[in-house]
Amino acid sequence: MIAVVIGGGTMGAGIAHLLLAGGHDVTLAEAGADRAEAAHGAVLRSLTKAAERGKLAATPDELLARLTVVPDLAAAPSDAELVVEAVPENADLKRRVLTQAASVCPQAVLASNTSSLSISALAEGLPGDRLVGMHFFNPVPVQELVELVHHAGVDPDVVARVRAWAEALGKTVIEVRDSPGFATSRLGVAVGMEAIRMLEEGVASADDIDTGMRLGYGWPMGPLKLTDLVGLDVRLAIAEHLAAELGPRFAPPALLRDKVDRGELGRKTGQGFFTW
Ligand code: CAA
Repeated sequence: MIAVVIGGGTMGAGIAHLLLAGGHDVTLAEAGADRAEAAHGAVLRSLTKAAERGKLAATPDELLARLTVVPDLAAAPSDAELVVEAVPENADLKRRVLTQAASVCPQAVLASNTSSLSISALAEGLPGDRLVGMHFFNPVPVQELVELVHHAGVDPDVVARVRAWAEALGKTVIEVRDSPGFATSRLGVAVGMEAIRMLEEGVASADDIDTGMRLGYGWPMGPLKLTDLVGLDVRLAIAEHLAAELGPRFAPPALLRDKVDRGELGRKTGQGFFTW
């Protein structure tokens, strides 16, 4: 398959890695030469980690031979079959790149990796019958799930094709109706916000709250460390969106806002609920 990934951040680079390892030809589109170079480096790092763990059937260089990184989406191949959009969680930005992708790649299925934005709203003004949510999880090559989000206007054949591609990539698919936060972000953010409120109220230390969920419930990492990994700013944006759509039970705690205001965004800045 010829695939295009838009956005070379953590998720886009991980999705490109997954598609390359699955034998596909991948064009990764970023905005500008510097970002394109950084995106190439991110895919290389991810492939190298997988190779070190014995998870790749080919060398990173062999896989990278099928990767083209372009500094402008306009240079994406017109015969692409799948476009996965993985730009930051901003509806206007997503709509803009998806609109451009719809005309640059006229045959392609359009898939958004949004973790919470409405797929029906993104579909407005697009060939919406070609658009689905294809929600991956960080780290993409490791996490087994793809959340496939469909809206009323989608062509059922598009849903079936995306399911088949995801399963061929080794993922398990859950199908979710377009609704705020889908299935995973809604539950994940609910637990994450409650953990922050518990920290605010002095119920237990960050370490002990996390250890409770790790050892008591078998989570691979606790909800506060996971918030650090995902990014406090990312989680705040999702919580604000869910509070607006679903009500005050999702209202972000003051501690989360304070930390984001101070630039304590989690692992990427070296400080969040933990020091990295
Ligand atoms: N390919 C590429 N990288 C790999 C890899 C592979 N096959 N296997 C492991 N790695 C990476 C890991 O990501 C990790 O990267 P960093 O160095 O950047 O931390 C590193 O190699 C170490 O991996 P290990 O397996 O040795 O480490 P671990 O046993 O601690 O596992 C983990 C790390 C997989 C992240 C595990 O802790 C985990 O599953 N945590 C929960 C993750 C989670 O819940 N993800 C969902 C987040 S929510 C989301 O993504 C949705 C959203 O919309 C925001």
